[in-house]
Amino acid sequence: MSALAVEGLGKAFAGEHAVEDVSLTLERGEFFSLIGPSGCGKTTTLRMLAGLLDPDSGTIRIDGTDVTDRPARNRATNMVFQDLVLFPHMTVAENVAYGLARSGVPKPERQTRVAEALDLVDLGGFGERDPADLSGGQRQRVALARALVNDPEVLLLDEPLASLDRALRGEMQREFRRIQRDSETTFLYVTHDQESAMSMSDRVAVMRAGGIVDRGPPRRLYSRPRTRFVAEFLGDATVLDGEVVGRNGETAVVETQAGRVSATSETANDHSDSVAVAIRPEAVTLGDGDLTGEVVDAAYKGFYEEATVDCGGARLTVRRERSAGGSTVQEASTDGGDPSRDRRFRVGKSVSLRVDRAVLVEDGDG
Ligand SMILES: Nc1ncnc2c1ncn2[C@@H]1O[C@H](COP(=O)(O)OP(=O)(O)OP(=O)(O)O)[C@@H](O)[C@H]1O
Ligand SMILES: [Mg+2]
Repeated sequence: MSALAVEGLGKAFAGEHAVEDVSLTLERGEFFSLIGPSGCGKTTTLRMLAGLLDPDSGTIRIDGTDVTDRPARNRATNMVFQDLVLFPHMTVAENVAYGLARSGVPKPERQTRVAEALDLVDLGGFGERDPADLSGGQRQRVALARALVNDPEVLLLDEPLASLDRALRGEMQREFRRIQRDSETTFLYVTHDQESAMSMSDRVAVMRAGGIVDRGPPRRLYSRPRTRFVAEFLGDATVLDGEVVGRNGETAVVETQAGRVSATSETANDHSDSVAVAIRPEAVTLGDGDLTGEVVDAAYKGFYEEATVDCGGARLTVRRERSAGGSTVQEASTDGGDPSRDRRFRVGKSVSLRVDRAVLVEDGDG
């Protein structure tokens, strides 16, 4: 039985749909992320699941039980908010114990469970600390311990890492994933940061304007997006309009502004001849290809270099990794006079390109 099953969930504010016909099923122990741009209805969805907001339509089942009309305190869910609030006048342990105390769990059991929850988030021994004396990452851990201590069926997390800097966010993502596995709790994680979602989740759903437009394992969504919106929202993609001029099984040959591209097809509109093709930067190889263009922009990005290549008016992004330790040799060689070894992108240079992977995508509002 699924941990969470949502059907036809909807909510409007003053006649405007914030969430429309959202259906979702989360398996037990799954890490599921809901992503989408600002204002697409993520928080509204979570608040309805938590029982903090009444839906206009739809049903919510937790562990098979219909909880649609139950208040928040009678649902096996907890929510971690973006602007997490710890009680400043309580110790870390008292913060974590708060919910247990309110539901009448006797003190000895409370102490055991608080100690277990703090161990789980790697804060064993921090119980007597004052929340003000913790780092941002440690406060996140306390908030997580507080939400996990009463063993919810589903934990709802609303952008809990948004306020952390990039390095700490990366560390906390790995920690969230570990804690989710160790606690065997089902996580529904909301964010507009596609990288976080892809690195942590078993499955991801992409939301747009109140509805879910695609869902699946991160690799599937990234490498075979069904719509232009999903292709562009999940990382960088060049999307070109084109006409199908030939087919070979699952592959379509598409004439685009940049030239002919072979694309695999996942979409429902793949029988129409006017299509759109999504190309990831890492799926384009420089040299030895059918497309020709001119480098119009080049940027050094650390471990890789990126160039924008103008192909007949269409702009493709190309990325090339710099091999570890090899870059100095290559750069020295550019002075050494062997131009074939110059692997840097140069603005103004004519190049040929090969598109190794491309996907047909739907171009509508989906
Ligand atoms: N209480 C409310 N009253 C009126 N409109 C609301 C209310 N709550 C949300 N909305 C509107 O519903 C839409 C969805 O809001 P929501 O907070 O769910 O977006 P979100 O996806 O969480 O965005 P963000 O990524 O910025 O947090 C927005 O247009 C918002 O203005
Ligand atoms: Mg929100």
